[in-house]
Amino acid sequence: MDALEKYQEVFRLISEHHKWMKETINLIASENIVSQAVKEAMISDFSHRYAEGMPGDRVYAGCKYIDPVEEIAMELAKELFGAEHANVQPVSGVVANLVVYSALTEPGDKMVALKIPSGGHISMGKIGAAGKVHGLRLLYFEFDNEEMNIDVDKSSEIIRNEEPKLVLFGASVFLFPHPVKELSEVAKEVDAFVAYDASHVLGLIAGGKFQDPLREGAQVISSSTHKTFPGPQHGMVLCYDDLRERIDKATFPGLVSNHHLHNVAGLAIALAEMMEYGKEYSKKIIENAKSLAQALYERGFDVLCEHKGFTESHQVVVDVTKYGLGGDLEKKLERANIIVNRNLLPWDLAEGRNFRNPGGLRLGTSEVTRLGMGKSEMEEIAEFMKRVIIDKEGEKRVAEDVREFRREFQEVKYCFESGKAYEYLKIRGWA
Ligand SMILES: Cc1ncc(COP(=O)(O)O)c(C=O)c1O
Repeated sequence: MDALEKYQEVFRLISEHHKWMKETINLIASENIVSQAVKEAMISDFSHRYAEGMPGDRVYAGCKYIDPVEEIAMELAKELFGAEHANVQPVSGVVANLVVYSALTEPGDKMVALKIPSGGHISMGKIGAAGKVHGLRLLYFEFDNEEMNIDVDKSSEIIRNEEPKLVLFGASVFLFPHPVKELSEVAKEVDAFVAYDASHVLGLIAGGKFQDPLREGAQVISSSTHKTFPGPQHGMVLCYDDLRERIDKATFPGLVSNHHLHNVAGLAIALAEMMEYGKEYSKKIIENAKSLAQALYERGFDVLCEHKGFTESHQVVVDVTKYGLGGDLEKKLERANIIVNRNLLPWDLAEGRNFRNPGGLRLGTSEVTRLGMGKSEMEEIAEFMKRVIIDKEGEKRVAEDVREFRREFQEVKYCFESGKAYEYLKIRGWA
């Protein structure tokens, strides 16, 4: 292919992707769709400008319209999350975590967080941003596999004995609110900072439906803005005033130069949407997660935590080892137009499984909810999954039925101006 053919090929592939998204059920717990309003902000001229520094105190000229947009994002974030300060410049969740690490710790300090097999994110681990990049010494909360949550008594002991500099809550597998209140009190005894990575549950927190980390003892929240929170792929740090200066300096000049201004604009729009629709949207996401879990359970799946109502978040975790392995089943489902994540179960490594082909699937209901689906659709989705995994029906046939099922769910809801969710926006050729 010459350069022109490759150029055309890229557009063809993007367009094919859009078509496929219209026909699939997306249950990836870390993804969502944005409104057309957010998209419009994201393709604005903001996408190729610089605005180093804070609004009103920039190192670049040309920011007279950019400044008030960033200020609106900061104001809305403060109001929505009850924070004294919001920094909307980290360009992703990992960068937001790095901002917190470098604002509050030095390399060599200890941090207590969740282990990856227990739901911790790579950026909290030895090989990621916390260990490899910032040089923290990692210690882990004790995790209760039955309860799928942090064990308060054993983790209190770890915090008291190890005296870490930072205690970080939050996870990528996140079924139930973390014991922030109980363990923040212990963290205070040893003068540790308390942070909360809200990447997965930010939208639920915005709607007041999960937990309220800043009122429960966390001093700072780091987050991405595109999972349950339906914004652009970006990051954000929320904190009390006493940490404002540390957080701002760690962000710039510490970890960003340009801060993806188009996404700051998109974030401002998504924050406004969540002010208006966050309560309703987050309630429905959780209801749908519970309905999906129940429907899968009734069809024979080993859904985790039946004794606790399965979930209090957007996520559902299924142990699929009765039927195969997570990696293989993820591929099978994809062929049936159902997109999910394989996921390590906390006991997988001990049983000889690894992240490539673990024992679990993680499902999330943020995107299907945003399309307007409810309980009966969750039952249909569970039935499609049963046909593929338990009944071992041909994936092509299921894919056809999924395509048909998806036909009437093509609009983004819970926003001021609902519109097409997956339309390919072709602007080439505009005069
Ligand atoms: C708990 C947690 N923190 C951080 C991140 C990273 O976010 P980003 O992809 O925006 O860097 C993720 C992503 O899935 C996550 O689950």
